Amino acid sequence: MIYLDNGATSFPKPPGVGAAVMAALAAPASPGRSGHAPALAASRVIHRARKALARLFGLGDNSRLCFGPNVTWALNAALSGLGLGRGDHVLSGSLEHNSTARPLMRLKNEAGVDWEIVPPIDGRMEPGEFRRRLRPDTRLVVLNHASNVSGALAPARAIKEVIGPVPLLLDTAQTAGSVPLEDAGSWADILAFTGHKGLLGPTGTGGLWVRPGLSLRPLAVGGSGSLSESLGHPDFLPDALEAGTANTHGLAGLAAGVEYVLETGTGAIRDRELALTGLFLEAIGDIRGLGLLGPGPGQGDRVATVALNLAGWSSSDLAAALERDHGILTRAGLHCAPLTHQCLGTFPGGAVRFSLGPFNDEAEIVAAARALRTLAGQKAG
Ligand SMILES: Cc1ncc(COP(=O)(O)O)c(C=O)c1O
Repeated sequence: MIYLDNGATSFPKPPGVGAAVMAALAAPASPGRSGHAPALAASRVIHRARKALARLFGLGDNSRLCFGPNVTWALNAALSGLGLGRGDHVLSGSLEHNSTARPLMRLKNEAGVDWEIVPPIDGRMEPGEFRRRLRPDTRLVVLNHASNVSGALAPARAIKEVIGPVPLLLDTAQTAGSVPLEDAGSWADILAFTGHKGLLGPTGTGGLWVRPGLSLRPLAVGGSGSLSESLGHPDFLPDALEAGTANTHGLAGLAAGVEYVLETGTGAIRDRELALTGLFLEAIGDIRGLGLLGPGPGQGDRVATVALNLAGWSSSDLAAALERDHGILTRAGLHCAPLTHQCLGTFPGGAVRFSLGPFNDEAEIVAAARALRTLAGQKAG
């Protein structure tokens, strides 16, 4: 098997991740609740995860980093928690995942928010396009840091510079762990992350960081292990956004995943992934009938996600043939990102996405390119 579906979830996980999950499962404890030794140890495990993520994002105060089940939850917590309504204008990128597009659509339909989509220029998000659309009533800018379809990396920091005091909500699903973000705490306003992709942790983990001065109305309230005498939910972070028992087992694995990323270095991971992506792009460049969706070699910032179509093949048939005949796992279709495919001209058929991870190697990339060439040949002539 050659796994090239890291954009969906990363595989394999570093060895320490499974061991950390198993150790947490073996402990009789719920963190932040009871005061016995195993419960305190479980709290320390969660603290480790918070500390590791604070280092990854360059956050001074890790108490503003809140855990939840995934980035979809985090983005919903941010979008519904800001209290946006009629009279509020929100800008978003056009390469957004449904995890921001659907909550934004709901805010537009149910709360009267004026949601405007900033179009791409040559498939990329440009700071000037955001600046041009800013209005006095713009309350938020929502940005997918890297397209989970084309791999195009958005110039998030430059966009924040042009929007000034308007808060930037950054979806780091496709960049956390594989693009250096160690300074993000100094310029982003809300960072949303998922644990099971580039952070190399288990599914069921994710969260968000909210900069000091911004507050979110919690999506859910309830038990927090703090202020138990009060029927009012705590208003301090992280407790305010962490109602209910934490996913201790998953967060133990996430701590190990992020620690692996920190030890390896996001710069080194990025260099490796981009070298493999460059090799893949070179190797497939002359295949007849191949249509690439994202930046080609030397065409600007990207992540290790390559989407394409082959003449004569539907995306679903091509992905099925890659798996059946070559043992290569990819993802076909719309990738939960219909807006992106509309922008790229591949709606509704979609494309086949090859998403590389830090554990892929050159031989796998060469084999994937060879498989594509073989499949292209089957439809030629
Ligand atoms: C850009 C982007 N945003 C959000 C998500 C949603 O991630 P999750 O399902 O972990 O919440 C994904 C993953 O598919 C994604 O690629």
